[in-house]
Amino acid sequence: MLYALCYINNRFLPFNEAKLHISDLGLQRGYGIFDYFLEMDGKVPFLEDYLDRFYRSGVLTGLDVPLEREMLKEKILWLLGQNGFRNSGIKLVLTGGYSEDLYTPPSDPNFMILNLPVTHPPGEFGEGVKLILLDYVRYMPEVKTTFYFPSIALFPRMKAAGAIEVLYHHSGLISETTRANIFLVKEGRLVTPSPGVLRGITRMHVLNVAKQLLPVEEREVRLEELWECDEVFITGTSKHLIPVVEIEGRQIGDGKPGEWTKVISGKFEDFYMQVISETPAGFSG
Ligand SMILES: Cc1ncc(COP(=O)(O)O)c(C=O)c1O
Repeated sequence: MLYALCYINNRFLPFNEAKLHISDLGLQRGYGIFDYFLEMDGKVPFLEDYLDRFYRSGVLTGLDVPLEREMLKEKILWLLGQNGFRNSGIKLVLTGGYSEDLYTPPSDPNFMILNLPVTHPPGEFGEGVKLILLDYVRYMPEVKTTFYFPSIALFPRMKAAGAIEVLYHHSGLISETTRANIFLVKEGRLVTPSPGVLRGITRMHVLNVAKQLLPVEEREVRLEELWECDEVFITGTSKHLIPVVEIEGRQIGDGKPGEWTKVISGKFEDFYMQVISETPAGFSG
């Protein structure tokens, strides 16, 4: 197994030696939050945005992040320097902690920083992907909880359909996919669902980039709009923008990645590279 150092409850340990006890409420009751972001050459673009979201998830769920922000940053950067992957993902995980009756939350949660290499850096546009649908509303959608049960349980259906993500909808409205936000383009207007979604960091920056190119609407989006629009794409940290060409067996637009999707993706990649070039390296060596 690959050698990677990680951080768990005040200790730096090799990845395969880092363990939690079975009484942890993340395991027993699904009580946990996380966040995930990328390192490129020792730089972590949008680090402050991700940390804002992680601390906010903690406040909203009653899980106290045990490290102050500056200390947390220090640990992350030290870990990146030690592992030296250059292209890697960082996952902050905070779980409910050890509960004697396997239900009542203790005062001290378990906190981990995982750092593993990334083999496919973001920005690969591709030929477009497929989604399947699920009638589901995420609990506390603005929080990045560890609860991905509904979509993981659908792996067999996803595999059969050749889909990579599940798109959630309810009462005729769409929200987001398993690990990404969704955007539609209709007659030169960009639309993305709000409220009731995770405030994706990629979503936020894509919206800012796109606003300079075409009219943008953040609003409730009906499921039927998918069948009437010209283009669909999804956004997330590990993939950036990915065109969607089929949803639940129905073709989107002309079944190919759309022109606006290409333009917005190109501008976003330019912006991302600029941010990388302006971000100071977190560690030397
Ligand atoms: C439910 C959900 N929505 C959206 C996203 C995309 O967010 P970001 O762009 O911050 O990765 C994620 C990321 O994992 C997610 O889990």
